[in-house]
Amino acid sequence: MDKIEQLQDKIKEAALGGGTARIASQHKKGKLTARERLQLLMDEGSFEELDMLVANRNRGLTTDQEQFLGDGVVTGYGTIHGRLVYVFSQDFTVYGGSLSEPHARKICKIMDLAMENGAPLIGLNDSGGARIQEGVVSLGGYADIFYRNTRASGVIPQLSAIMGPCAGGAVYSPAITDFILMVEQTSYMFVTGPNVVKTVTHEEVTAEELGGAQTHASKSGVTHFACANEVECIQYIKRLLTYIPQNCEENAPVYPYEPVNEQREPLNTIIPLHPNQPYDMKEVIEQIVDAGSFFEVHKDFAENIIVGFALIAGRSIGIVANQPAHLAGVLDIHASVKGARFTRFCDAFNIPLLVLVDVPGFLPGTDQEWNAIITNGAKLLYALSEATVPKITVTTRKAYGGAYCVMNSKHIGADLNFAFPQAEIAVMGPKGAVEIIFKKEIETAPDPEARMNELVAEYTERFANPYLAAEKGYIDEVIMPDQTRIKLIKGFKMLENKVINMPRKKHGNIPL
Ligand code: HXC
Repeated sequence: MDKIEQLQDKIKEAALGGGTARIASQHKKGKLTARERLQLLMDEGSFEELDMLVANRNRGLTTDQEQFLGDGVVTGYGTIHGRLVYVFSQDFTVYGGSLSEPHARKICKIMDLAMENGAPLIGLNDSGGARIQEGVVSLGGYADIFYRNTRASGVIPQLSAIMGPCAGGAVYSPAITDFILMVEQTSYMFVTGPNVVKTVTHEEVTAEELGGAQTHASKSGVTHFACANEVECIQYIKRLLTYIPQNCEENAPVYPYEPVNEQREPLNTIIPLHPNQPYDMKEVIEQIVDAGSFFEVHKDFAENIIVGFALIAGRSIGIVANQPAHLAGVLDIHASVKGARFTRFCDAFNIPLLVLVDVPGFLPGTDQEWNAIITNGAKLLYALSEATVPKITVTTRKAYGGAYCVMNSKHIGADLNFAFPQAEIAVMGPKGAVEIIFKKEIETAPDPEARMNELVAEYTERFANPYLAAEKGYIDEVIMPDQTRIKLIKGFKMLENKVINMPRKKHGNIPL
């Protein structure tokens, strides 16, 4: 056969993966193939495939295993928005995308290249897990990937899209990466599937309930995004990349920006007159950031805290904000972990942080205490203390107790702390404080309720304001709310070249 024809035939064969029947079956499940996904993800004509002709010569359980060129994963590099990325896309049509030794080697090769060349790694996962025929060799392949994920953590951004099954130990590679995106109805993640669950715990649960996109987006927080379909999932990956740099040595891209209308009057009226009335912190965010630039992460999980990326005057920032519209913005275990993990991503990749504070405190109760709110709350405290990127805080209303310290207070290294005139910065809310410090006086008063109300009013007047904190310099400026955006543009610009040298250490010991 002509040598050119021979190559062309091999390329054609590889491109078909597990063959047309299996491709049809993939489509029937509402899923795209590995190559179709790459076509949507990468800039047109930019994708360069490596290891297309890798074959699996391992004998495995049977000697008559079918051979498929590429062995169930498409790997390579290319660009997204003109920026270099490395990618692997598992091909479910070949042994259910299961991970064999050559399959793992292909992924490792791409990971090594991504690390050496400082560019993001994107994994499109669609796999039945370890290639059963190969036994421990495929387990070794997984461990090789986990090891590289860990080494790459904090060096290059790593994104994992789950576009099919992801079970057993296979879930741990995505779990180590920075962001997970799942597709509703066609993807799931669990350590043990519904059958094992039924045998061990006698629970009856479907795969979707146990580990579908909604479950992990809202209950466990394992996934950061639940996408309606694969196309949306790929769009989210592309959008996410616009806010983040190529690696830990670089800054995120800066976008052109024309200053207009920086004074935002609606901010003067968003905070309700009564301190216990909720409002939506997302409305505050919309008024502060460049129009339409807020990209929320972990939207359906621990809604009492908001995290996400945005642009301010064309520059990428990370936002961590209490959400008074949900559980009064209280800090609990999930909110603390969510905020901490996002903070650490931003700090690792030089993305400045904006922290918006309206927090009544930590959530009380046995559930929280027994599940270690102490350790988990400390994660947020640790993460914000440790972060050396520019850090600005705006206290819109409440900042009480330990939560005041935790939410990027001046004391833990915030560079600029602003407060609205409505801010209440104190050890605790007026009623709680008065009940403790004036307990005897209230009990012995002729009209305890009237006396209590008087004392609450006095305490509110004296302590529930931003001025005591401003007197001490803990608040740099009490600002008119409509000036917030102007202050932030100037503040982040001023902090652009911030350098902080940390004490020499191997690594810290965040309370895990
Ligand atoms: C080899 C596999 C496979 C696997 C699926 N296939 N999983 N081949 N190793 N792990 C093959 C099937 O034989 C079939 O081949 C094709 O992929 C498609 O599978 P179907 O079952 O027809 O598809 P579907 O009905 O969609 O079900 C997909 C599935 C199911 C849910 C993934 O196949 C399944 O449960 N597979 C086993 C999952 C599993 O237990 N994996 C090991 C987990 S332990 P043909 O030739 O018919 O196309 C693990 C350890 C990792 O992964 C540890 C890391 C530390």
